[in-house]
Amino acid sequence: MGPFSIVSRIFLDIGVFSWDILLTLSNLVRRKLRIGHVTPHGHPGYGGYWPEYKPPKETDSRCSCPALNAMANHGIIPRSGRNISFAEVERHIRTTYNFSSTFCSFVPRFAARMLKKDYSEDLFDLEELDLHNGIEHDGSLLRLDSAFKQKQSTKHTPFIEELLAAATGRDRKDNSIILTTKDVSRMLSKRRAVSRASNKEFSLSSFHKIFGSTNAATLVTVFGGRVDDLHSFLHDERLPKGWELHIRQPHGMTLMQINKTVLEIERGVRERDWAEAAREAAQFDKALV
Ligand code: HEM
Repeated sequence: MGPFSIVSRIFLDIGVFSWDILLTLSNLVRRKLRIGHVTPHGHPGYGGYWPEYKPPKETDSRCSCPALNAMANHGIIPRSGRNISFAEVERHIRTTYNFSSTFCSFVPRFAARMLKKDYSEDLFDLEELDLHNGIEHDGSLLRLDSAFKQKQSTKHTPFIEELLAAATGRDRKDNSIILTTKDVSRMLSKRRAVSRASNKEFSLSSFHKIFGSTNAATLVTVFGGRVDDLHSFLHDERLPKGWELHIRQPHGMTLMQINKTVLEIERGVRERDWAEAAREAAQFDKALV
């Protein structure tokens, strides 16, 4: 990368972050979107009508991200998961999950750079996002580490079950079970400790920890932690019938807003609480789920 493109990248990032602050402030003063009208009119999911769900075929491409896989399973992006443009993903995560334009532009641009692709010209297949230590990393909530020769598009069902069973919150209105940020921190602590003890190739930089807690934060923000909905999203990578996302800010969830939950989750991670049990389990080759 030449000096010109580094400088233009810095300006682009500064621009995105400044814009993000303005959107965050505007979100604070503007009225929230009305329930039933969060997905914009004319977009897939308006009024809770998600396009037909079809599980992926053998030949389809899927990745380690349940949110992108779900969009492909509903045909919001190509069902094949192949030849997708970065701009297409940017547009659809905005309307499907109501993230701010800043988040929606930042993450796909980051992914394009990670894959050494041109954001505007090149296409990608979902599985390419599983580049190890790009965004994908060890010690995830839902998948075994790639060192265990696990295709990252393959979910690890016991991890999902354990995560959902760890939910301790209750919705005040309908008493449904809610996964809280504390629950997520506890499970992330365990996943990281177990991976560190059992995976000889384990690595997890601070940068990847933040990516991990950002992904985990979406469970409590976009899905409001509702275990019923998360069950369908995580096990089947399916948006529940009639489901509406929980982010009702008019400009969508900004980078600044999600960072609040990300920091809460990351601060609550206590890997050492699990370290001994994880080491013992690894020694006797026992699965600590
Ligand atoms: C272009 C946008 C996106 C890209 C490139 C992307 C990419 C990824 C990747 C590579 C992973 C695997 C990380 C790991 O190893 O744990 C991942 C996981 C995940 N992503 Fe995404 N993602 C995007 C958008 C989203 C959105 C919009 C949501 C929420 C609505 C989301 C929710 C998640 C969740 C819940 C996980 C699982 C985390 C875990 O297992 O610990 N992602 N994503």
